[in-house]
Amino acid sequence: MATEEEFSVQMEGSPEAGYVVVARPGVVFIEARIDTDDNATDMQQLREALQAQLSSPKNDTPIELGEDIMADPDNSVILGTLYEKYKGIIKSLKLVEYVGEKKFSIFYSLNGVNIKLQVYQLHDTELSHDATELPEAEINDMPHVRFEGQWDELVFDSDVKKDLIWMMTNIGIVLHSQITKADFPVAQIILLYGPPGTGKTSLCQGLAQKISIRLNSSYKRTKLIQIKTATLLSKYYSESAKQVDAIFTTIVRMCQEDPEQFVCVLIDEVESIAFSREQGAHHGESQDSLRATNSLLTGLDRAKSCTNVIFLCTSNMLDSLDSAFLDRCGLRIAVDPPSKHSQYAILRGRIQKLIDQGYIKSERRFPSYDEASIEWKAGVGKASKHGATLLAILELFKSGKEVTSGRSLTQLPELAILRYLRWEDCTLAVALSFMHRLVMSQHGVHVPGARYEDVDREDKFLTASMGIELQRHTKEVENATDSPQAEASTAVELRGHKRNFSGINDEKRVKR
Ligand SMILES: Nc1ncnc2c1ncn2[C@@H]1O[C@H](COP(=O)(O)OP(=O)(O)OP(=O)(O)O)[C@@H](O)[C@H]1O
Ligand SMILES: [Mg+2]
Repeated sequence: MATEEEFSVQMEGSPEAGYVVVARPGVVFIEARIDTDDNATDMQQLREALQAQLSSPKNDTPIELGEDIMADPDNSVILGTLYEKYKGIIKSLKLVEYVGEKKFSIFYSLNGVNIKLQVYQLHDTELSHDATELPEAEINDMPHVRFEGQWDELVFDSDVKKDLIWMMTNIGIVLHSQITKADFPVAQIILLYGPPGTGKTSLCQGLAQKISIRLNSSYKRTKLIQIKTATLLSKYYSESAKQVDAIFTTIVRMCQEDPEQFVCVLIDEVESIAFSREQGAHHGESQDSLRATNSLLTGLDRAKSCTNVIFLCTSNMLDSLDSAFLDRCGLRIAVDPPSKHSQYAILRGRIQKLIDQGYIKSERRFPSYDEASIEWKAGVGKASKHGATLLAILELFKSGKEVTSGRSLTQLPELAILRYLRWEDCTLAVALSFMHRLVMSQHGVHVPGARYEDVDREDKFLTASMGIELQRHTKEVENATDSPQAEASTAVELRGHKRNFSGINDEKRVKR
């Protein structure tokens, strides 16, 4: 439920005169991160000055979605005189979202849209001062430095990030409004489920961070309470139901004592305290765990009286969750493993981050998926074709795993560098060769020598990668006996791979 001004189309007129649909410019959301210990900075004044400057009709410099205006001094014109005044304390100024009529460009002129500005400062203390009240939880004041950038790094095929942020914004707005909850029952429990390592926990933490910024004009403070569910059962064996009760009592009290505070409670791996009582009874589950599930359900019911709390739960065991718990989850959202496109984007993001941090040396931006696909089609086998090389590594990586998780992908570059780097400069080609070597070793193939710095050696590894891919497809064709269509399409794909494969060998022959 967006506020009225957030709609890009509105009705004007009266029922008698007839309504006219008036298209309005879209809305862009801009987040300004401030960093100052200086109490002299008047935040209200800063916010108003920025809002006025950004909304100025003269502001026609196009800005890219996701771009940090402060990162490029050429953009100083956008801030006019405010640039010099505030450049020391505005650490980033990002256009984070556009809502409105569909556009085919990712560039926006600020004078053509409405601007929603959110100014925020990051907390950096390890734990909130409430932490002592909840020893079985980790409590952070939000937005927190620990979660900065986490949201942007997450890549999904669906619009799950956008959907979640809007659902949370709408829930927050409704909870904050004067509407009594009896008039408008709000789903305060969101369940994210999916296979391991697909980003559920990170998504919840990132969401709490984003929402603390997005709703900062409605709620003065936001807290993230992460309940350590796994330790609850083990540490307090036979007492976990009591512990769950105590946790909810404290949460309800915290919410009631400070109504201007928004509380996000993350119950990670919720199956530990929401195990199906029915299945549990059949499988000899301990009485302790069954009582913990009861306590969770009554705790959630007690928390319904609070208008400033939301529960984010994650699980990779949907089938084992108690049906009464599932029934209480207003929103259940599947988080799926990444497609090939997203796998590439996740790995690329990780590599680019290591380049930005200086761990990997590269002068150039890492190629996008589309650029890499063009490189691949043109024929792999050049040391400079980093995108195609990464695609080849991904193919190898996939062939060894049932499900390729975001976790295994994000870990790959660091693990490879840590394992194989000796004394040499970690150039992009070297880093990619290490990644290839690590994936090969996971297949049981040990590539001798540490580096593939020269073109010929890189050719070899790409050829090997394509060879493995070819074998995999050959197997698929052999196995595709039950569906003639499947057999035909796999065979077409196989021919494509064979062409690519022989292309590399031809190229190598020419070189020789
Ligand atoms: N879709 C994704 N995009 C980018 N990074 C991802 C993605 N999925 C997972 N990761 C990365 O993998 C790591 C593990 O993710 P996370 O712990 O959130 O997964 P999870 O779904 O909660 O796993 P589990 O079910 O095992 O608890 C994090 O560092 C995260 O950044
Ligand atoms: Mg998790």
